[in-house]
Amino acid sequence: EGVKPDNRYVEETEKGINEMALWEEQHVKAALTSYGSKDAAGQKKKEYDMIMDEEIEFVQTIKMPGTGGKKNKVQLTEQDMKKLSIEETKRSLPIYPFKESLIEAVRDHQVLIIEGETGSGKTTQIPQFLHEAGFTDNKMKIGCTQPRRVAAMSVAARVADEMNFKLGNEVGYSIRFEDCTSERTLIKYMTDGMLLREFLSEPDLGSYSVMIIDEAHERTLHTDVLFGLVKDIARFRPDLKLLISSATLDAEKFSEFFDDAPVFRIPGRRFPVDIYYTKAPEADYIDAAVVSVLQIHSTQPKGDILVFMTGQEEIDTATEVLMERTKRLGSRIKELIICPIYANLPSDLQAKIFDPTPPESRKVVLATNIAETSITIDGIVYVIDPGFSKQKSYNARTGMESLIVTPISKANANQRAGRAGRVSAGKCFRLYTAWAYKHELDENTIPEIQRTNLGNVVILLKSLGINDLLHFDFMDPPPHETLVIALEQLYALGALNHMGELTKLGRRMAEFPLDPMLSKMLIASEKYKCSEEILTVAAMLSVNNAIFYRPKDKIVHADTARTNFFKPGGDHLTLLNVYNQWVETNYSTQWCFENFIQHRSMKRARDVRDQLEGLLQRVEIDILSSTDSVDIRKAITAGFFYHTARLGKGGQYKTVKHQQTVMIHPNSSLFETQPRWIVYHELVFTTKEYMRQVSEIENNWLLEVAPHYYKQKELEDNSNKKLPKTVGKSC
Ligand code: CDP
Ligand code: MG
Repeated sequence: EGVKPDNRYVEETEKGINEMALWEEQHVKAALTSYGSKDAAGQKKKEYDMIMDEEIEFVQTIKMPGTGGKKNKVQLTEQDMKKLSIEETKRSLPIYPFKESLIEAVRDHQVLIIEGETGSGKTTQIPQFLHEAGFTDNKMKIGCTQPRRVAAMSVAARVADEMNFKLGNEVGYSIRFEDCTSERTLIKYMTDGMLLREFLSEPDLGSYSVMIIDEAHERTLHTDVLFGLVKDIARFRPDLKLLISSATLDAEKFSEFFDDAPVFRIPGRRFPVDIYYTKAPEADYIDAAVVSVLQIHSTQPKGDILVFMTGQEEIDTATEVLMERTKRLGSRIKELIICPIYANLPSDLQAKIFDPTPPESRKVVLATNIAETSITIDGIVYVIDPGFSKQKSYNARTGMESLIVTPISKANANQRAGRAGRVSAGKCFRLYTAWAYKHELDENTIPEIQRTNLGNVVILLKSLGINDLLHFDFMDPPPHETLVIALEQLYALGALNHMGELTKLGRRMAEFPLDPMLSKMLIASEKYKCSEEILTVAAMLSVNNAIFYRPKDKIVHADTARTNFFKPGGDHLTLLNVYNQWVETNYSTQWCFENFIQHRSMKRARDVRDQLEGLLQRVEIDILSSTDSVDIRKAITAGFFYHTARLGKGGQYKTVKHQQTVMIHPNSSLFETQPRWIVYHELVFTTKEYMRQVSEIENNWLLEVAPHYYKQKELEDNSNKKLPKTVGKSC
């Protein structure tokens, strides 16, 4: 059938090298001529956008030309066709011929490692196979974890569709703040973080007959912790089947960790992919990516394009620029359907991404590294890989975590290239040099557990009764000092006592699926009698960076609208103000539109707020309201007291504890005010360490909220210089 396994795709092929020069030439020419030089405004926006956010909470609905108005076929035929094509697709997946032997292997072994190329059908098919084989009899469930929310949602939707069920009934998903399952659910997709939380209510996973830890190669923090927990459970629940499924060649390592569990390999099927490199490093990889898309579109044969970006803002920028340029090119090029993929993708857009591309047009998918392995889009023939992803980085000395755009590893680069060779021979354009690939990229990505703050996990494990974390069965243990710092921070927050045991406060904090600092802030709102406000602040922070939008053609208006919301006191109160005004308009969509506020994010904030309110009631906190700005900011400080900075000599901020130089994010309402003492929500590193979501505080509050963490001496404010303008005390 013309399909042969091929391992060339990680190599530069002969042909690739020859074509490379040609591509180079076209590429540079294109950048200089067809599309004009970069405009200053675009550049400025890009700088602005380079300051990036983490998980994206919102997707901008983009009108995709040519996909509307075509759905008026006869109902029956369409359904029949769909069923037929679903059946056909299922049969064509590499995993299909192994159905029986896989079921047998699961029957024979308690723990099984499954290895198969991305797109072979592991995630969508295995739960269905096991369901058919009777593993869901007696109302037992099959669980399947995913490191990413988008994947959990989209895969559940797909499987529900394949099985002809309504999503949320027999097939459902569970992600933070959203439970789309029911009593009837038999196949449940969930984020790895949600399964961790399920241990709190069901420590033996008693309602599951099978648990699949999927995308194990991603080695997220939560997946790594799950490894230890499920391994332990398997010992006293011999009836529980455990499947560890992974895309890359880590199977041996997984097998070893799970006491030499057998490995079930699904033979891969893959077409050759030619790899192209740039001759010189690209200064502006977003622009280079856009130019490459247009190049491919105008010169290359049929086939869709997948572009890897690091986050929402980059994807937005690239989408805008692409739309603008294709519009300018008009009928000189064929239709280009532009599909962004963000985390937390709404289902209407999910469907669009998987829609087959109409003939005579081409689809370009702009994705984060979610498209590396978690999601497979058929029809991709060209991959553009700028070579970066956004990663958490952790400084174990200072306990500070920040998000950094980081070069990917060789393993990532090869995964990305592989996405081009699923349906036919493909091409991967790397926007970096062959030299950089060989000498600058690490072999593998460091597991998240070794580069993140462990506060969250420590609290969770402690509340599961696992006290000795130093001897927990980690596949790759976190650095000792990282664990120690997490323990210290939890002690400072009051979640642990000096014996390292969970306090009453700690137990209450564990109820919240939030970072310990946020949980502490929520609980502290009881003391300051402002839970209504703090609930809103916490909810708004959770959709953080996706509240305001700035369409390229209305930047001035959007910025004016945003600054109109500013409140003295800072960004937390500004977010509160936005939410309260929205409530006053009775949750109006129109109001959001007029004020350049993302309605979808606001709706999400409202959902999150409702759920957090329920949790506050569960830990028996009275929900009181206060308009006192000081009280609200004290409650925030009670949670975030080690995210504090002071303005020093020379107009520079330094963190209070560790004297690190940090800056207020240009987006912040306090960017110009520059108060003496501030508390911030998070750090984001681009060219500098930026503090995002900043509020003004007073130094003596720190002694009040964290007397065991700060000493009077480090908080002395003995500079005689004129203090910047201070702000009013009420909001
Ligand atoms: O897990 P693995 O990477 O092995 O494959 P999968 O996610 O089960 O994907 C198998 C097939 O289902 C692919 O051809 C996907 O294109 C398709 N799929 C889809 O059409 N829609 C989804 N939401 C997920 C998968
Ligand atoms: Mg998968």
